[in-house]
Amino acid sequence: KNITLIGVPMDLGQTRRGVDMGPSAIRYAGIVERLKDIEYNVLDFGDIEIARPGTIEETIETNLKNLEEVASASENLAQAVSDVIQEERFPLVLGGDHSIAIGSLAGISKHYENLGVIWYDAHGDLNTADTSPSGNIHGMPLAASLGIGHETLTRIGGYEQKVKPENIVIIGARSLDEGEKTLIKERGIKVYTMHEIDRIGMTKVMEETIEYLSGKTDGVHLSLDLDGLDPQDAPGVGTPVLGGISYRESHLAMEMLAESQLITSAEFVEVNPILDERNKTATVAVALMGSLFGEKLL
Ligand code: ARG
Ligand code: MN
Ligand code: MN
Ligand code: MN
Repeated sequence: KNITLIGVPMDLGQTRRGVDMGPSAIRYAGIVERLKDIEYNVLDFGDIEIARPGTIEETIETNLKNLEEVASASENLAQAVSDVIQEERFPLVLGGDHSIAIGSLAGISKHYENLGVIWYDAHGDLNTADTSPSGNIHGMPLAASLGIGHETLTRIGGYEQKVKPENIVIIGARSLDEGEKTLIKERGIKVYTMHEIDRIGMTKVMEETIEYLSGKTDGVHLSLDLDGLDPQDAPGVGTPVLGGISYRESHLAMEMLAESQLITSAEFVEVNPILDERNKTATVAVALMGSLFGEKLL
């Protein structure tokens, strides 16, 4: 029952200001107290250093925004996360935009033969430099972790393919670019879109997800983008998409993951307090983390 928090005040993977304040907002919403209340030993590592844009010399010709700065932060994060696992503590990473998953997965996957990933998100984040409509790296971390995309991103941590396509489950998808759809089909990635969640319900989605991953993985990382939730419940995100997962469904999903004891690392990303309403989104994130770590009413 040992958790280490790692803050990643990253906003360079997209263009809306404020998401760098996500870790502060989550701490302010009481994450440390919440986990201590359920008997965890909690350590706060503090924040990973993020270089300001333009401060690292650009040597690579690319359409990817802030590539050098994102890559350098990813290497630092990978090292920090790996050290936490080495100490036999649970790494809980607080974002920051979703580009940070590149570093998290690079640090985590070293410790597993067959890492599973649950990607809880409105988006697939499966773009590459060639398919990206925006050049924003926060739309690319899952592709990069599969070893697909710009070398600078796929080689973070000094190795390629942090996760195999058959070990991924995407939950909550409702905005996918053409290139992402092609990749999902080609690689056979399991996706529960909002349609399946409506149709079979979150209980069944999570039962199937747990069953699908438990046999073939030796650890599972939860990468939870707050925009997976409906903007009504999580308004403080940079790329909101109508028609998302409710707070209640998400709470249930986290409780079922807690019960399964499958999750070995997690990150909560895209909390943007500037776009939020009275820190609602960070509060939701903290409530979900409570459920994920086994909080119970009675
Ligand atoms: N698919 C879009 C893009 O590539 C949006 C990605 C949003 N990603 C996120 N982590 N919020 O730009
Ligand atoms: Mn998203
Ligand atoms: Mn995302
Ligand atoms: Mn409940």
